[in-house]
Amino acid sequence: MTIASAAGKVILLGEHAVVYGQPAVAAPVSEVRAWAEVTTTFSEKGIFIHAEDLGRSFRLDDPPDELTRPLQETVRNTLRNLRFPLEALSLEIHLRSRIPIARGMGSGAAVATAIVRAIGKYLSRDMAPAHISALVFQIETLLHGTPSGIDNTVIAFERPLWYRRGEVAFLTLNEPIHLVIGDTGTPSRTRDMVAHVREKYSAAPAAIEAIFDEIARCTEAGREALEQGNPITLGGLLSENHALLQRLGVSSEELDALVMAARHAGALGAKMTGGGGGGCMVALAFEEDVPAISEALMAAGAKQVFYTMVA
Ligand code: PMV
Repeated sequence: MTIASAAGKVILLGEHAVVYGQPAVAAPVSEVRAWAEVTTTFSEKGIFIHAEDLGRSFRLDDPPDELTRPLQETVRNTLRNLRFPLEALSLEIHLRSRIPIARGMGSGAAVATAIVRAIGKYLSRDMAPAHISALVFQIETLLHGTPSGIDNTVIAFERPLWYRRGEVAFLTLNEPIHLVIGDTGTPSRTRDMVAHVREKYSAAPAAIEAIFDEIARCTEAGREALEQGNPITLGGLLSENHALLQRLGVSSEELDALVMAARHAGALGAKMTGGGGGGCMVALAFEEDVPAISEALMAAGAKQVFYTMVA
C-alpha cells in the first residue's frame, strides 16, 4: 500500500488579477490535507477509484460524469505522463480529503497532487515538485480552462510563495504568521467567478485594469511585509485587497459578514480568498487572538473554521 497527501492553500493577495498576469501571494494550509492511497487489487482486473467524500466508487473506464471526470482524468494523465500502460495495472485508489470542495482552498489541485504523488510513489518514480506541479497544471487546464497556475505551484511545493504566470519566488518569512480561515459553507465555482470578471473586463477594460493595478500594488507591498515580518502592515493590505475584490464584484454578503466579524474580533486584516462568490475568507491574527476570532467567525455564520501557522 502506498499513501501520499497534499495540503490545501489560501491566496493571501492577488486572486483574479493573477489570471491577467499580475502577481499573487499564496500559502499552503498544511493542517488541512487530501489523501490518496494506492493498493494492488487481485480480485478483478482494472483501476478502481473510491472517492470517500463523494460517496462514489467507480472504474477508471466508466463513462465520466461531472464528479468522476476530474479524478479519472488525473489518474489517466498521471499514468500517461509516467509512460505506464494502463492495461498493465490492477489498482484500487482510495481518496479522502479534509479540504472543503469548491471553497477557494485548492481542493481540486490538492486531490490531484495527492493522486499524482501516490501513483508516482507506487510506481517507484521519483517526481520532483516542479514535475508534479506541471502535471497538475496540465490536468487543471484540461478540466477548468484557464487556471493561473498558482494553486498547483503552492500545493506541489508546499511553501509560501509569490507567483506571476510562469515565475515563482519562494518567500522566507521573517516571522511566522497566524491565519484563521472561515468557510461560508457556500460552494462556488472558480470557473464561473473568473468568467464573471472576464465579462466585466470586456465591458470596461480600463476600469478593471485599474483595479488589477491596485491589487498588484497590495500584493507587492504584502510580499515585502511578509519577508520583513510586519504583520500590521500585511493585515492592512489584506483588508485593502478585500475592498478591491468587492469592487470587482466577486465577494458576497456572507463573505463580507465574516470579514467584518474577524476584524471586530481583533484580526489585523481579513479578506475573501480564492474565486469568491462563496467559499472562504482568511484573517491574519496575532496568535493570542486566534480563539476569539474563530469564535466570532462561527457566531457570524461560518460553517467551519481552520487555523494554520505559516512559517
Ligand atoms: O478558488 P480557487 O482556490 O481555485 O482560486 C482561484 C484563484 C483565481 O485567481 C480566481 C483563479 C486562478 O486560476 O488563479
